[in-house]
Amino acid sequence: MVKTVRAVVTGATGQVAYALLPRIAAGEMFGPEVEVDLRLADIPPMIEKAKGVVMELEDGAYPLLSRVSASADRAESHHDADWVLLVGSVPRGPGMERGDLIRKNGPIFVEEGKAITAHGSKDVRVVVVGNPCNTNCLIARHSAGAKVPDDRWTALTRLDQNRARSLLAQRAKVPVRDVKKLAIWGNHSATLYPDFTNAQVAGKRATDIVDRAWLETEFIPAVQQRGAAVIAARGASSAFSAAQAIVDHVRGLVQKTPDDDWTSLAVVSDGSYGVPAGLVSSFPCRVSDRGAGNGTFEIVQGITLSDFARAKIDATIAELEREREIVKDLLAS
Ligand code: LMR
Repeated sequence: MVKTVRAVVTGATGQVAYALLPRIAAGEMFGPEVEVDLRLADIPPMIEKAKGVVMELEDGAYPLLSRVSASADRAESHHDADWVLLVGSVPRGPGMERGDLIRKNGPIFVEEGKAITAHGSKDVRVVVVGNPCNTNCLIARHSAGAKVPDDRWTALTRLDQNRARSLLAQRAKVPVRDVKKLAIWGNHSATLYPDFTNAQVAGKRATDIVDRAWLETEFIPAVQQRGAAVIAARGASSAFSAAQAIVDHVRGLVQKTPDDDWTSLAVVSDGSYGVPAGLVSSFPCRVSDRGAGNGTFEIVQGITLSDFARAKIDATIAELEREREIVKDLLAS
């Protein structure tokens, strides 16, 4: 029997969604045996434009696209939704940090949390993309309440993982597929920590292959600043690389993680590695056989963190705590 997934994309008329929607329709996110009921959600002034995107999706005659619709009414778009991809938000411009958007975008995620708890399916899974995505996820998770438990909420740091892998592969002169276990810790921000100390390159420790000074002084800042570099060069924030990361993120949740790798997800901390419980932080995660298919993941345990790694993680967690303080009024419910 063919399975159907009901998937919502908010901010459906934005650039990221424009790169993402055809890939979902083509089956790249949920796999070749899963039909998709794709719901485009946006704010009322954008719905006419969203109808044009619906037409393009129809015109693609995607065999796996069982239904496509657009609505500004969350009761309609989110009805029984299995996956809600929260892309819609104000993007940052040149010279801004993602955290500068926190008071502008935070209230959007209060409403998104309410809509998900009111209308989503009982097993709904949520991916927060709009920035600052960790703290927006925290806000939405709080506003959704107990009906949508902690393990349903994730935010996107796969874009950072992909960037880090690509940069390290270039430096080591190996194909990207040879870089493994390169996890992102903490915030999707200029403090994120790409943990090269546990990463592997072609089956060896990355630090045995690549110069440590480069890793510490060039690699880390390059990954941290890559989003800003794209904005400076393009005059707009990343779009299709973000879409690629969203596909990878969800694909990584519905499939078993390869035994020799990890997937970076920002998730609600359970206190692992001393990250305060409740904060939405990126960790190395795995999907086991048991979890494969429904978005169930676990934080990888037992990773050795050097003093260097610990200090970097502490700094990014401190930033997440500061962000939580800035939005504490939005976490009141
Ligand atoms: C990115 O990392 O490219 C996105 O989060 C957009 C941004 O503001 O950097």
